[in-house]
Amino acid sequence: MPLLAYVGVVLDEARAWDLIRELARRARAGSPVQTRSGFVVDTAGRIEEVPAERAQLVVEPGTEPCFQSASRLAPAVQQLLDLYLPLCIGSAAQDLVIGHVGQSLDGQIATAGGASRYVTGPENIVHMHRLRSLVDAVLVGAGTVECDDPQLTTRLVPGEHPTRVVVDPSLRLPHSRKLYRDGAAPTLIVCARGRAEHDGPPRVPVVEVASENSLLSVPDVLRALAARGLRRVFVEGGGVTLSHFIQAGRLDRLHVTICPMIIGRGRPGISLPGVESLDQALRPTTRRFTLGSDVLFDCNLSGS
Ligand SMILES: NC(=O)c1ccc[n+]([C@@H]2O[C@H](COP(=O)([O-])OP(=O)(O)OC[C@H]3O[C@@H](n4cnc5c(N)ncnc54)[C@H](OP(=O)(O)O)[C@@H]3O)[C@@H](O)[C@H]2O)c1
Repeated sequence: MPLLAYVGVVLDEARAWDLIRELARRARAGSPVQTRSGFVVDTAGRIEEVPAERAQLVVEPGTEPCFQSASRLAPAVQQLLDLYLPLCIGSAAQDLVIGHVGQSLDGQIATAGGASRYVTGPENIVHMHRLRSLVDAVLVGAGTVECDDPQLTTRLVPGEHPTRVVVDPSLRLPHSRKLYRDGAAPTLIVCARGRAEHDGPPRVPVVEVASENSLLSVPDVLRALAARGLRRVFVEGGGVTLSHFIQAGRLDRLHVTICPMIIGRGRPGISLPGVESLDQALRPTTRRFTLGSDVLFDCNLSGS
């Protein structure tokens, strides 16, 4: 690639985040950047698309790394672009399903009683808020809403709140959960077919999906969300929900953040049926990032 001729302000973390959000916005609108494209971000965060020779940053889907900067970037900016740009560009970015799990060294995401605040450090909590702000929907299982009573907003970073989706097959969760009452963001419940006539929380739409042996079909869940314009989905947990997505082969990317802590018997992260030989194990291509004292593995499952 030729060297860029741009001379101007150096891209800082805030402006890099503005650019990442803009590229995610294009992907959410169904028109992700698909070819080599140049951008300039001014100090007020205004973004202009310019010819690559005049660009502050050039992004190119399908390459590794997928961007080139006109100036030397601070390590934090470099990491921000490295971590999030691949989620926002290229044709696959308009239908992205990404999962995250924050786990201990011994693979637990919470104590046996369900306490998980916090397994990972503050840098990873910010990371989850960033992921939320880059998608259309953040999806969690009933167990997470039961134990954590989460808000699932992006309050730690600049960015829009996604639609909050709760998988509660039998509508067993109490209506008093925060996300059903706070009005902070659109919220949706996915339940098993035939359950919606049961008493759901007031003003929270309920979507029915086919189930077999009380298991909701993951492809049907994703189809139901796509029918509502929710095509970029972040599966935030817990382990049971995430494992259903992996088993159904419907996770494009998985972020596993490992914290140097040993919990002992608790709630497991990913839990899948076993394989007979290691040839049958999933071996995604991975990249590694440091988040404070945690290590994040970015696993690309789309080819696994
Ligand atoms: N460290 C982390 O990254 C992290 C992230 C999120 C949560 N957590 C913690 O993890 C714990 C909860 O996780 P968990 O694994 O026990 O539960 P979970 O995944 O949050 O919820 C599991 C439940 O969701 C419903 N569900 C999800 N997918 C389904 C499907 N395809 N078909 C049918 N039902 C489906 C079922 O509800 P029913 O039970 O009603 O059948 C299932 O039992 C909590 O302690 C929470 O604090 C940790």
